[in-house]
Amino acid sequence: MRLVHDNESKPLRAVAIAHPNVALIKYWGKREVSANLPAVGSLSVTLGALATETRIEFDPSLEHDLLLLNGIEQPAGHGRLAACMNALRDLSGCDLYARVESENDFPTGAGLASSASGYAALVTAGAAALGIDAHETRLIDIARIGSGSAPRSLFGGMVLLENDGDGTVCEQIITPEDWALSVVVVITSEVPKPVTSRDGMEQSRLSSPYYAAWVDTHADDLRQAVGYVQDRDFFALAELAEHNCLKMHSVMLTTRPPLLYWLPATLAVMHRIGELRAGGLPVFFTIDAGPQVKAVCQTEVADEVTGALGAVPGVLRTIVGELGYGARVVGG
Ligand code: PMV
Repeated sequence: MRLVHDNESKPLRAVAIAHPNVALIKYWGKREVSANLPAVGSLSVTLGALATETRIEFDPSLEHDLLLLNGIEQPAGHGRLAACMNALRDLSGCDLYARVESENDFPTGAGLASSASGYAALVTAGAAALGIDAHETRLIDIARIGSGSAPRSLFGGMVLLENDGDGTVCEQIITPEDWALSVVVVITSEVPKPVTSRDGMEQSRLSSPYYAAWVDTHADDLRQAVGYVQDRDFFALAELAEHNCLKMHSVMLTTRPPLLYWLPATLAVMHRIGELRAGGLPVFFTIDAGPQVKAVCQTEVADEVTGALGAVPGVLRTIVGELGYGARVVGG
């Protein structure tokens, strides 16, 4: 292997941390599968309580990329990881292979957006190791190759991802300090999901009779949600976010074969959150392609919400945290 560019100024190794995110206005479905372009925009919160840490070292002695995920070697020579690594190499002019070690402090592949934090941490560490400017907007596209929701984890607080011509733009709309919100992650199963988001959303596009309505009504949801965030109108955002989540799950349920990610405990937690909000607590649910529930609440009621949801039968455990920061380099 050789370096096309002078590597004297490049550290060739870096460590980065990124947090998963959960969308309040979700995306489900691709407008272009090959470029991994989402059919609709999305609005997310970054979850400060969960983290992926990724260490990358580009090494002239390697014959191919090596990936260790939670200490277990994974295939790295093809697919999404290889596409991201190749895009980083192209951007920097370096053609060395790398050893990538990534650790999640939460269950992997169980609907907790491990691919979002994983690819955001990978791109951030890879860019730092290769001396690519962290403000390089193409990093958003490279993260998106890995996972459609990964660009959102490059940013903290609340993040808007929108289609823009042939690509996507992604930006922070409020910082963690701008609105004191917390997310209680309610874990009802630690088993990896049977159908990945990527496969599931393509099946939905091809087979759900509700898919077109999901796409057609989405821009209004996104526009209204951004307005509610700007007004800090929690209860309006709560009603709209739950509606958008249930609309996505209606598309999932009407996919052939059906995508039923919920467990009995998932539904029990949704009902409990409804009761809490009816009693005046500022809390709402959202659920991705898995059985976990994320309860978004105002931070002043986070302890009360955590206690109530932790007591629901079938709940394994809860993890609570405030809004997190964007992906960042933490070591060389
Ligand atoms: O592209 P992926 O695999 O990160 O898909 C994410 C899909 C949902 O989590 C269900 C929705 C979303 O917008 O995060």
